[in-house]
Amino acid sequence: MNYLQERILKDGTVIDEKILKIDSFLNHQIDPKVMHEIQSNFFDYFKSREITKVLTIEASGIAPAIMVASHFQVPMLFAKKSEPSTLAATGKYSTRVHSFTKDKDSDVIISKEYLNADDKVLIIDDFLANGEASLGLIDLVNQAGAEVVGVGICVEKSFQPGRQRLLEAGVDLYSICRIASLADNKVTFVDEDAE
Ligand code: G4P
Ligand code: NA
Ligand code: NA
Repeated sequence: MNYLQERILKDGTVIDEKILKIDSFLNHQIDPKVMHEIQSNFFDYFKSREITKVLTIEASGIAPAIMVASHFQVPMLFAKKSEPSTLAATGKYSTRVHSFTKDKDSDVIISKEYLNADDKVLIIDDFLANGEASLGLIDLVNQAGAEVVGVGICVEKSFQPGRQRLLEAGVDLYSICRIASLADNKVTFVDEDAE
C-alpha cells in the first residue's frame, strides 16, 4: 500500500458510494508531506519521458501539479474556469467541460501564449471520476497542436467511466490510487496484482 492509500484509509471520509472527502490533506487543507510523496510517485513513472510543461485545472489540481513541475523543472500551467481580464491579445483556447457533480457545463480556458505546438505536456489532476476535466485538458493541448505525454491522477475512482474513456483515447494514464468501490461506507482499492 502506498502513502496516499494509507492516508486515505486513515483520514478520508466516505460521503456516499460515489464521493470521497479528503479535505484534510488534499482538497482544502494540504499536507506538504502528501504532496511530496505524490510528486515523487509521478516523477518515477514519467521520468523517462520528455516533458516541457505540466497542465492542470483550477483549483485542486494546482497543488500536485506545481510539485511535479518543480521536480521536472518545467512551468506549470492551469486552465481557468473564468476568463481573466488580463488575457493577452493572442487569445485563448477554450473547451467545454461538463460537471456531473454540479450538473452544469462550463468553459475552461488557457491563454494561447502559454501552450505551443512543440510542447510535450503532462496533465495532472487530483481526482478522476468521469474524465471530463482530463478530456477537456487534452482537447486544449490538441488545439495548440502540442503533444499529450500522459495523464497523472492522484485518486482515480475506477468504478466511474473516466479511466475507460482515457484509455480509449489512447492516453498513457497513471493513477497513484485506484478506488474500486466506496460501497458500505468503506474504501476498497483496486487489487492491481489481481488484474
Ligand atoms: P471528472 O472531471 O472526472 O468528470 O469529474 P466530475 O465532473 O465528476 O468532478 C467535478 C469536480 O468534483 C472536480 O473538482 C473533481 O476533482 C471533484 N471530484 C470528483 N469526485 C470527487 C470525490 O470523490 N471527492 C472529491 N473531494 N472531489 C471529487 P472541481 O469542481 O473542478 O473543483 P476544484 O475543487 O478542483 O476547484
Ligand atoms: Na476537486
Ligand atoms: Na481537480
